[in-house]
Amino acid sequence: MTRSFCDFHCHLVPGVDDGSRTLEESLHSIDRMLSAGVTRVITTPHFPASRVEHHGFRTYMAFVDGRWNSIREAVGRDYPDLDFRRGLEVRLDTPSPDLSDPRLRLGGSDFVLVEWPGFMAPPDGAERLARLVDAGHRPIVAHPERYGGIDEDLEALRAWKEAGAFLQGNYGSLAGQNGTRARRLIFRMLEAGLLDYFSSDFHGRPEYVFYLHRGARELTRRGGGGHLDLLGKVNPARLFEGKPPLKVPPLVVEAPVMRMLQGFLE
Ligand SMILES: [Fe+2]
Repeated sequence: MTRSFCDFHCHLVPGVDDGSRTLEESLHSIDRMLSAGVTRVITTPHFPASRVEHHGFRTYMAFVDGRWNSIREAVGRDYPDLDFRRGLEVRLDTPSPDLSDPRLRLGGSDFVLVEWPGFMAPPDGAERLARLVDAGHRPIVAHPERYGGIDEDLEALRAWKEAGAFLQGNYGSLAGQNGTRARRLIFRMLEAGLLDYFSSDFHGRPEYVFYLHRGARELTRRGGGGHLDLLGKVNPARLFEGKPPLKVPPLVVEAPVMRMLQGFLE
């Protein structure tokens, strides 16, 4: 049986962040995702963790709830077979955030998708993630390949993982969407066996590319077909079931030119 893709990082709630602007754009984006083979989605608007401490938090979440309900009802009507859930991409802009509200977590589970502010990994990232783990959460750091402050030896990422965090790479980074550094880093992370998941980080607008197939093609071209299955299908499906990811072996990258030569010799 061919397994399907599960995506837990995308911006499809209309009018709440820099993703889909309208319900029509949300539905159009979901249609594109389904056409690419995605069958389970958690949509994750941007959210600064410090907002929980402000007195406008309840009002803001009521606004997000309303927008979420509009897309949830439309998806239930137009795509009744889609497993569609809500979460947030929580920006860790405060040292000890309160993530006790289940709406801040992925599908209400104890997994929480987090990102660092300003695309910069903080020096105390491991300690911050350990505090989230101590509070009973399972943090997943979004797109680690996109942050500054990550040395080529990837020691920071090892420390995050030792603190109990998981790592989610973007399909687009495999295909160069985020520049040559992010592409180099994401393949180094795969070679080091550090990544746990792929997701799209799709900002649901018609003018944006949905990178799943481009990223998948690039990874497969370098001998990573098995990793695509594990990181894009098996492990995200486990997240939807509340289970931790399976351990991912290091990728042995095949240079595209070597593959071509092998093709000629066979
Ligand atoms: Fe995102």
